Amino acid sequence: MSYKLGDVILSREAISRRVKEIAEQIAKDNGKDKSLVVVGILTGAAFFLTDLVREMPEDMDIRVDFMSVASYGDSTTSSGIVRIFHDLKSSIEGKNVVVVEDIVDTGLTLSHLLDLLKNRNPASLKVCVLLDKKERRKTEVKVDYCGFSIPDEFVVGYGLDCAGMWRHLKDIKGVIEE
Ligand code: PRP
Repeated sequence: MSYKLGDVILSREAISRRVKEIAEQIAKDNGKDKSLVVVGILTGAAFFLTDLVREMPEDMDIRVDFMSVASYGDSTTSSGIVRIFHDLKSSIEGKNVVVVEDIVDTGLTLSHLLDLLKNRNPASLKVCVLLDKKERRKTEVKVDYCGFSIPDEFVVGYGLDCAGMWRHLKDIKGVIEE
């Protein structure tokens, strides 16, 4: 099967506006004077996270950390058993933490990851996703901040890939399978 880029589903302007709104909401909820650890789940969320934190107040105490995980399963179905390739550099014990994901689909990856992070005793643990494919959910995940709910369509760009390709697109586009 070959793939072609389709129409713009979410424009860079729409993404940028929403990212700003979410950043303001997170900063407001956290309290500007309190520190916050923003945890990005590689690779897709790196793009969203870097834009998101740059929209937060300059005088806020923000730390950025990353994890690289993959859930066991085939290329399209995650099993929910998460394997850690790269763990956080710092402890999150007693910290306010927001986990940033590009997309939540079945919810299995996030659900397992949240259980794992909860065991490290953060003061609070919230979830921020750019895209939510609600109709694909297999397990309940509490999403505290959501950029956009989207239907079950194959999309790429702004961190989302198709076999590793097209993460660098500024807009989120559909994919045509041929
Ligand atoms: C994507 C996404 C989530 C997961 C969501 O990661 O970033 O981690 O899939 O799927 P789920 O809700 O069905 O568990 P992917 O494995 O594609 O890695 P990537 O970020 O490196 O592209």
